[in-house]
Amino acid sequence: MDPKQLTSAIDAVKTAILTEMQGYELYKGAAERTTDPEARRMFQLLKKEEEEHYKMLHRQFKSLMEEKKWVSPPTLAHGEGFESLVADAEWRKSLRFGNLELSVVSIGASLEAKAVEFYNKAMETTPDPEGREVFRWLVGWEEGHLKWMEWLEEDLKQRFWAEQGFAPM
Ligand SMILES: [Fe+2]
Ligand SMILES: [Fe+2]
Repeated sequence: MDPKQLTSAIDAVKTAILTEMQGYELYKGAAERTTDPEARRMFQLLKKEEEEHYKMLHRQFKSLMEEKKWVSPPTLAHGEGFESLVADAEWRKSLRFGNLELSVVSIGASLEAKAVEFYNKAMETTPDPEGREVFRWLVGWEEGHLKWMEWLEEDLKQRFWAEQGFAPM
């Protein structure tokens, strides 16, 4: 990798690490604070997935710094975590989310949207195929997060207004 390419690869990975860290902290805090066991389960799954992304990026950072090359992202099963939980319509119907959960889901949806946008852009602008593969891997994960966070946000918002109306906080 030429020096200019290496610098922009490292910069992109640094931004990505911060993005994943924000998601990790958001979902970790929510899992700790929520009193709803199902919401906790969901936030814990999200926290774990962002942690995996963070670790993967940390390996990229190390490899780029030391060996000036990308490493292949690991194969992580999509079917067992957050997505498979929220894809279950019965589970979604059982949700009894409150103010904390709705707020975290809204902030999470914005964060996931920002992540998808950044990773798509990084994928387009990274010249080497190994780097593009890393960002493609992240886009795949964050698109899944975004899709369901947006769905939950919409559903919870509807319920919030239906159930609480304009009640004070
Ligand atoms: Fe992530
Ligand atoms: Fe995410």
